[in-house]
Amino acid sequence: MKKVIIDCDPGHDDALAILLAAKHLDVLGITTVAGNQTLDKVTDNALKVVEFAGLTHIPVAKGMGHPLIRPPRHVPEVHGETGLDGPDLPAPTTPLDPRHAVDFIIETVMSTEDVILVPIGPLTNIATALRREPRIAGRIQEISLMGGSLTYGNSTPAAEFNIYVDPEAAHIVFTSGVPIRMCGLNVTRQVPATEVEIERIRGLGTRTSAIVAESLDFYRDTLKRVFGLRGGSLHDPCAVAALIDLSAVPAQAGPTLIEFEPMHVAVELKGEHTYGMTVCDCRHLRGRGQVSTSDGGVWRGEPPNAEVAVDIDKDRLIDLLIDTLAKYP
Ligand code: BDR
Ligand code: CA
Repeated sequence: MKKVIIDCDPGHDDALAILLAAKHLDVLGITTVAGNQTLDKVTDNALKVVEFAGLTHIPVAKGMGHPLIRPPRHVPEVHGETGLDGPDLPAPTTPLDPRHAVDFIIETVMSTEDVILVPIGPLTNIATALRREPRIAGRIQEISLMGGSLTYGNSTPAAEFNIYVDPEAAHIVFTSGVPIRMCGLNVTRQVPATEVEIERIRGLGTRTSAIVAESLDFYRDTLKRVFGLRGGSLHDPCAVAALIDLSAVPAQAGPTLIEFEPMHVAVELKGEHTYGMTVCDCRHLRGRGQVSTSDGGVWRGEPPNAEVAVDIDKDRLIDLLIDTLAKYP
C-alpha cells in the first residue's frame, strides 16, 4: 500500500480527501497548515475528522501558521468561520502529535522509504521541510498535490487558492526536483457536490455519511453564492484519487481516473495580475516536442518538472468517493 502524509487545511474537501485516503492508502500522518482558516481552526478540524471517522490511530501534527513571506489569507466565505462549518461536531479530545508538522515530515521521510506527500493546502509546510532538510528531496517518492491550474484561477482570474496563499513556497516545491503530480482547478472543479451527489451520500444512511452530507450542504451553498457555481467542487480528493490503484477496487476496475501530461510549471511570483499563477508549458500537447516559429526557428521550453492533470473521469471519481464513504460506520 502506498505510504502517504496528507498535508492539509480542512476544509470541507480536505475532510473528504482524508476519508478517501484512509481506506485506500497507508496514511502515516496528517499535517496541518494555515489556509482555508487559521492554523488553530484547521488543526481542530483535522482532529474532528479523525474522531468522527474513527481514524484516531493516524497522528495529526500541527504546522506553519503563516505563509513564508506573504500575509495570511483565509476563506471564511467558502469554508465558514470554523473552516468546516455545517455539522455540529464536538470539540476534539484526541491529543496532537508532539512534533511540529515540519519535523514530522522530515523525520518520517528520513526514516521511511518511498513516502508520498499529498499537499492539499498551501505549500508552506512542504517548502519549509525542503529548506530545513534538503536531503528529503531525494527521498520523497513523489508529491501529489491539489493546487494551481492549467487554465483559470479562483482566488484571482489567474491564481488558484493553495498556490496564491504562498507562491514562494510553491516555487520552492516546483523547483525541488521531487517528482510532482499536480491536480489543478481545471480538473478538480469538474468534480461536483451538487444536490445530486450530496443526496447519494446522505442515502448511505450512516453516521459518517450524515456528517459528510451536512458539511457538503454548507459548502455547496457557499460556492453557489460566492462563485455562482452549481454546487461545491471536490478539489482535494483528486490528489488522493490520483494515487489509488484502481485495479484493487473491484467496482472501479478500468483505466486511470485522471489523465496527466508532463510539462514545465513555473509559479509566477511578481505579476501584477498573475502572481500565484501556475504557468504551465503545454505547447507540446499537440503532439510535438517543440514548437516551430514562422521564421523557421523553434521555441524551446524548460524540461518538464510536473505531471499535470489534463482530464478527469468525474463520474467514476464520485462513485469511488461514495463507495469509500460506504465503508465508514
Ligand atoms: C483549494 O482551496 C481550498 O479552499 C480547498 O480546500 C482546496 O484545497 C481549491 O482552490
Ligand atoms: Ca484544501
